[in-house]
Amino acid sequence: MNLFLRSLAKLLALLSLGFFMAACTAKSGSDTADLTWQPEEINGKKTYAELVVGYSQIGAESEWRIGNTASILEAAENLGVELLFSDGQQRQENQIRAIRTFIAQRVDVIGVSPVVETGWESVFQEAKDAGIPIILVDRRAAVSEDLYTAYLGSDFIEEGKNAGRVMVDLLGGEGHIIELVGTVGSAPALDRYAGFREIIQEYPGMKIIASESGDFTRAKGEEVMADLLKLYGDEIDAVYAHNDDMAIGAIRAIEAYGLKPGEDIKIVSIDAIRDAFQMMIDGKLNATIECNPLLGPQFFELALKVANGEPVPKWIPSEEGVFFPEDAAEIMPLRRY
Ligand code: AHR
Repeated sequence: MNLFLRSLAKLLALLSLGFFMAACTAKSGSDTADLTWQPEEINGKKTYAELVVGYSQIGAESEWRIGNTASILEAAENLGVELLFSDGQQRQENQIRAIRTFIAQRVDVIGVSPVVETGWESVFQEAKDAGIPIILVDRRAAVSEDLYTAYLGSDFIEEGKNAGRVMVDLLGGEGHIIELVGTVGSAPALDRYAGFREIIQEYPGMKIIASESGDFTRAKGEEVMADLLKLYGDEIDAVYAHNDDMAIGAIRAIEAYGLKPGEDIKIVSIDAIRDAFQMMIDGKLNATIECNPLLGPQFFELALKVANGEPVPKWIPSEEGVFFPEDAAEIMPLRRY
């Protein structure tokens, strides 16, 4: 009986295989050929569980970056992707070393958020020669387009322009501005610098009286602002900070100096982190321009497509808004970073 059942099962299996093969043969060559070709193609492709990704992160300079790292780690975990993650601690040489290690480990795809724009050609070329695609995440690199597969991230120029537009409104087109610049040579610092100027150059009364780097950190933002207050004091009408962390540092310095941030000195910054919403609720920050760090799920979707040789756009831009104090209390509970 057992033998009979086993033989029957075998027969059914063979029959069904035969049916499947017959179905394939019958369909191929007809106009539904795609349907028969598809299952083989899917079977030949990697799944998330088979994907090995190397990721070179910049560091942990800001709340934004911490939110960004969390999003990458969480998405990898949820999707079951094997992720080799490296924290560059703000140094390009560490990032380059990490990329070389990923190449030696033969990962499927490398994600990198370049700390500065220049100096990536050699290592990206090494990845290309090894047949490992590079995806730029959050920040661009100044390399030729054939050295990376795609860029997933923000339009930093537009963020700078939005900050400029808000600043023009706040100052009525006239005033002395201090600019706290991000990491020197980084894509967001260069583009936010340029975008802001594109807008305010139309207003001769808007003057940037000092522009200094606070390296995207609270501590440096506070230190630089304290020095600039000593130099310019009451002459300062506004601060444009390339990120919220530096703006929060500047707020501390302005308070220590005895002025009211948000009133005596208007402040506009970029990122839209939770703490910025609290600052707006407290009346100390006048606006924050969103820069979305929650790129994890989109990054792995892209990485899987790239690993499977599917075509992807060269730039996948993030959708971003501008937030003001009047909506801060309502929006803050919804913020995830
Ligand atoms: O590249 C994005 C920028 O990097 C964020 O605006 C800043 O906070 C971060 O450190």
